[in-house]
Amino acid sequence: MTAPSRVFITGASSGIGAALAREYAASGATLGLLARRQSLLEELAASLPFPERHRIYAADVTDYVAVASAANDFIAANAGADIVIACAGISYGTLTERPADLAVFDAVFATNLNATVATFAPFIASMKQQQGPRRLVGIGSVAGVRGMRGAGAYCASKAAVHSYCESLRLELRDSGIKVVTIVPGYIDTPMTRNNRFPMPFLMPAERFAAQARDVIARGASYRVLPWQMGVVAKLLRLLPNALFDAAFSRAPTKQRQGEA
Ligand SMILES: NC(=O)c1ccc[n+]([C@@H]2O[C@H](COP(=O)([O-])OP(=O)(O)OC[C@H]3O[C@@H](n4cnc5c(N)ncnc54)[C@H](OP(=O)(O)O)[C@@H]3O)[C@@H](O)[C@H]2O)c1
Repeated sequence: MTAPSRVFITGASSGIGAALAREYAASGATLGLLARRQSLLEELAASLPFPERHRIYAADVTDYVAVASAANDFIAANAGADIVIACAGISYGTLTERPADLAVFDAVFATNLNATVATFAPFIASMKQQQGPRRLVGIGSVAGVRGMRGAGAYCASKAAVHSYCESLRLELRDSGIKVVTIVPGYIDTPMTRNNRFPMPFLMPAERFAAQARDVIARGASYRVLPWQMGVVAKLLRLLPNALFDAAFSRAPTKQRQGEA
């Protein structure tokens, strides 16, 4: 794939999304950067090469009309997009027995799954008309490979991202648009910094972004990064339920929303 010129990224104000923005900008790309925190997007854009090329969109990805409007603005300004990365995501621990957590399930699914659909949707018609490499990139998680205790919403939402991206990959197979699912293991970002459990193979966001860019360029269908977590994910998938339950029923959990 030649250097992509037009890349639209949600969740660009922090962590993986910001690292991907820096990675693509370094190769001369023109970026659309979407997240809620406008000041962080402005700081990021100002720090990139050719800051005047990039467009920032202060929007909530669960406001699907605002996402479509940002997408349409980016398409109009750049005559299309080569790569769209739906990276915005949230992660909270949840317990089904706590009634308040039903609202957290709604928020996690709206942000992690439905907003991925809302991010891709406005780009598909124009991407179908374009020539050359085109990519829609979903960000899953190794947490989506098996259900972990205390993380029902996050694990289920990321499993759903994996399945959704697979469906879309088949739907777009003859269109020239490749759907790439990138599945991070543990990446060092604000999302993981409060985790109260060991994080094997923790990877710096910059290294993740460089490897993700290669995966996206190749148009791979599904890739776990770092590769060591790919091995872990494969083993987890193979583990029979009885062994899985014995190994993970006492695993430490992620904080619920508002928990210290
Ligand atoms: N870090 C890891 O180890 C890891 C592992 C597996 C998967 N992932 C996935 O990777 C993606 C990026 O996570 P990260 O680690 O980089 O976390 P992060 O540093 O917390 O960044 C999350 C990004 O999502 C944006 N976001 C969240 N809710 C949003 C909303 N409603 N509207 C618009 N933007 C929203 C945030 O921007 P604003 O707050 O400014 O809106 C921020 O830019 C997520 O999908 C996450 O699930 C991360």
